[in-house]
Amino acid sequence: MRLLSCLTTCIAAVTAVTIGKRAPTPGTLSHVTSFGNAPTNAGFYIYVPKNIASSPGIVTAIHFCTGSAEGYYNYSPYKDLSETYGFIVIYPNSPHQGSCWDVSSKETLSHGGGGDSNTIANMVKWTINKYKVDTNKVFVTGTSSGAMMTNVLAATYPNLFRAAIAYSGVPAGCFSSSTSSIDAWNSSCADGHVISTPARWSQIALAMYPGYKGARPRMQIYHGEIDKTLSVQNYQESMKQWAGVLGYDYTKLEKSTTDDPERGWTRTHFGGNLEGIWAKGVGHSVICRGDDDMRWFGFK
Ligand SMILES: *[C@@H]1O[C@H](CO)[C@@H](O)[C@H](O)[C@H]1NC(C)=O
Repeated sequence: MRLLSCLTTCIAAVTAVTIGKRAPTPGTLSHVTSFGNAPTNAGFYIYVPKNIASSPGIVTAIHFCTGSAEGYYNYSPYKDLSETYGFIVIYPNSPHQGSCWDVSSKETLSHGGGGDSNTIANMVKWTINKYKVDTNKVFVTGTSSGAMMTNVLAATYPNLFRAAIAYSGVPAGCFSSSTSSIDAWNSSCADGHVISTPARWSQIALAMYPGYKGARPRMQIYHGEIDKTLSVQNYQESMKQWAGVLGYDYTKLEKSTTDDPERGWTRTHFGGNLEGIWAKGVGHSVICRGDDDMRWFGFK
């Protein structure tokens, strides 16, 4: 509802094949209806490439509000890239009216908490087991509400994902609802009024999986300079969060390059595991950059 109408009108609907318990058909968007425990009714769509790698990776690609798994399958570049690089794409489908993701409830903001993040994590686990996936190549990306969920998954399931790319989202926990409402919109966050320190943002993310000491995903954050839906302040706040979590000093960036990757844009590094891309003149949302994504995920 709050997205560029182009995002919805530009998308042609495709009919996914409902396959039940049969194996997904390679080269076709397939609906997996049974994948073990699904605490929420999020739908599970999968694209297994015809040219699957012997030990494939996974890209989890998460749609925006008003979107759908089928819509994001068409909108994003990952199905074509999966044929080139041999990875599997998982397209979760929001179970909520308005098709946003629940990034506000206590359930979704905790590891094993029973929210949408948990359901998506279970899709990833099912796929890892079924396709002998290389667990060093499991990734997540998404746009807008899907980018919010990307940040939430990076905080709640750091054990599953090696890298993440958030296109125009907010920090994990920024939409957290005071009443733990499911799938709630949070205007304070969306409008850029939730401003905190790297230490506090980091605490919020770490509290989503208490006691976890293992590896954490490399984070890449995109945001449009003139985003009117999710204030660009959320770019700074997301960078603070992941700088804190990944152990970088937010006040000391390693390197910043202008006109990268586009004229007027700025790419900022806080060391090898955190990168921000500020897209000058771009609103909501930044279009997925497939080839650059392949480099961040290490396929290219
Ligand atoms: C919006 O999110 C912030 C945390 O970022 C929280 O403090 C606030 O209570 C939330 N607002 C509502 C109405 O839930």
